[in-house]
Amino acid sequence: MRIHALGSWLVAFGILIVAAGAIPAFAQPYTDETPAQHDARMKWWRDARFGLFIHWGVYSVPAGSYQGRPVKGIGEWIMQKAKIPVAEYHEYARQFNPTKFDPDAWAQLAQDAGVKYIVITSKHHDGFAMFPSAASKWNIADASPYGKDIIGQLAEAARAHGLRFGLYYSHAQDWNNPGGAKSASKDNPSWDPAQDGSFDDYLAQTSLPQVQEILERYHPDVIWWDTSFQMNADRASRFLPILAPYPNLIVNDRLERKSLKGDFGTPEQRIPDTGIKGDWETCMTMNDTWGYKSDDQHWKSTETLLHNLIDIASNGGNYLLNVGPKSDGTIPDESIERLLAMGNWMKINGEAIYGTTASPIPHPAWGRITTKAGDDTTTLYLHVFDWPTDGNLPVALSNNVRDCHLLADPTRKFTVDKNDTGITVHLTGDAPDPIASVVVLTIDGAPQPMQ
Ligand code: GLC
Repeated sequence: MRIHALGSWLVAFGILIVAAGAIPAFAQPYTDETPAQHDARMKWWRDARFGLFIHWGVYSVPAGSYQGRPVKGIGEWIMQKAKIPVAEYHEYARQFNPTKFDPDAWAQLAQDAGVKYIVITSKHHDGFAMFPSAASKWNIADASPYGKDIIGQLAEAARAHGLRFGLYYSHAQDWNNPGGAKSASKDNPSWDPAQDGSFDDYLAQTSLPQVQEILERYHPDVIWWDTSFQMNADRASRFLPILAPYPNLIVNDRLERKSLKGDFGTPEQRIPDTGIKGDWETCMTMNDTWGYKSDDQHWKSTETLLHNLIDIASNGGNYLLNVGPKSDGTIPDESIERLLAMGNWMKINGEAIYGTTASPIPHPAWGRITTKAGDDTTTLYLHVFDWPTDGNLPVALSNNVRDCHLLADPTRKFTVDKNDTGITVHLTGDAPDPIASVVVLTIDGAPQPMQ
């Protein structure tokens, strides 16, 4: 009772503070956080710019087909899309034995790709916990032949590789644990009586205890909530005392949309045009599904993925790029290839992504710009997608220029001149990178956009 009351109070207080604009985003459990403390807490996440999303669970066993037929839609939703009965879905868990899962290889891949953090599904909407859980037998240790703690192994490997570690947790939607949300509609219709139950009991008996379990056991740097079906401010408030002991935790905006903003917004499968206010992270699939689907070969090219990463950074956001591992514990080759290619670009050009902020001017026709503020200078990273045939690269700023060179080869210096459209960089030679060549332009003072 007391905890509950405290939670409601924190929510109410949080709303007040958010409304007053004193704290830019998440107001709980950080009600006493100053803007400086908020910035300090968000620093690693803002600097990271690039993270790896992993959607992995029992749904990788059917891999997109049921009773011999392909099921439309995203792979991790197969139970709901095909209305698979609970007992039948449990059969897939008995076949979930990822003996090829190599947490160190996954963490190495993430590191080689140049991501700074991983977010993995600890429990998706099918309710299956990828960690041992005292709150529900529907978990990796009790319901699969594999039996080992997937989340624990990956947490350890990620940290050994210097990566931050985040956990996706479907706190409301759950198609297996009784009472979990099945939809946003008021009557929360089930497709199997085994799913029936009270949503409040589900929160009390499954969701809240499991959130506590994952926080205590894995100390995640991020909690990534998803789909707030059946949630309201009162229900969300019950999570707050559980989060309170972790003052460095970063959370997204999906716990409960109306009363809580979270630390960052989560545009899904899209890149906000000119960026949105505050912190945000675009999450995106590499093909068309989050969880593995054997017949989804609709892969984005490395060029598209890299341009997305650069576009997002130039709008001031993070890119959380997804892989959907197979049920044997391997990551599809197409994903590995693309991640490694991105990593090769990042090894040379990462300075133009990590720790940068949005472009000070509208996107130029030739590519994108990211920015780093110095003491009395500003560094602009000009990501040239289309290397101009005449060598002239216009930048609509009126500042004086200190230096201009190629990031990949600082000995390749470029001359610049100023004219009535701003600065023109005179590129020479060929584009060093067919996807994006980065030119470093150092200017005096803060950027002065052309009027
Ligand atoms: C959606 C889907 C889900 C996926 C998520 C990623 O909300 O429900 O399957 O995990 O988006 O952003």
